[in-house]
Amino acid sequence: MASVKEEVSKAQKYLAHGVYVISTAHEGRLNGLTAAWVARASFVPPLITASIGKTRFSHGMILDSGVFAVSILGPEDIELGRHFGLKTGRKTDKFEGIDYETKVTGSPVLKNCIAWLDCKVVSFHDAGDHTIFIGEVLDGGVNRDGAAPLIYDRDSFFG
Ligand SMILES: Cc1cc2nc3c(=O)[nH]c(=O)nc-3n(C[C@H](O)[C@H](O)[C@H](O)COP(=O)(O)O)c2cc1C
Repeated sequence: MASVKEEVSKAQKYLAHGVYVISTAHEGRLNGLTAAWVARASFVPPLITASIGKTRFSHGMILDSGVFAVSILGPEDIELGRHFGLKTGRKTDKFEGIDYETKVTGSPVLKNCIAWLDCKVVSFHDAGDHTIFIGEVLDGGVNRDGAAPLIYDRDSFFG
């Protein structure tokens, strides 16, 4: 694998991201992962992008289900960010013991997240070791109006 110039990696860390749990449901199985690489992409229709690593268990599940939900986390939700982001759901059910509800696509949404978006995949694009999923937002809602979202800081998760 080609190496990335150290200064390029360092510069990229200054791109600001929130922290989200991306979740899906397929054939009775639920899974979710923490993701920072999520962005708005279009006003009308409302589209968002999520960049998911090809090795993630969630990657295949989203390809299979064609749907995903985004739960937007606040600073007080950092433990949820760790829960969904530091282990795979390949052999365990990360939703066991977690409060969630399902919306229009059937993807689980974290119960007290700041806000949520429920999406169907309208296209996906190869992006190196990740795939960019473009989701059309079919429904969304706010649970904690005015709350500040959690801004991704590498040291809080991996330090
Ligand atoms: C704060 C944080 C942000 C992350 N952002 C992403 C991301 O944008 N895309 C991604 O594919 N993985 C991201 N990850 C890694 C996945 O959450 C992690 O590999 C997870 O264990 C995958 O779970 P799964 O195998 O059940 O899908 C992030 C992890 C953390 C802690």
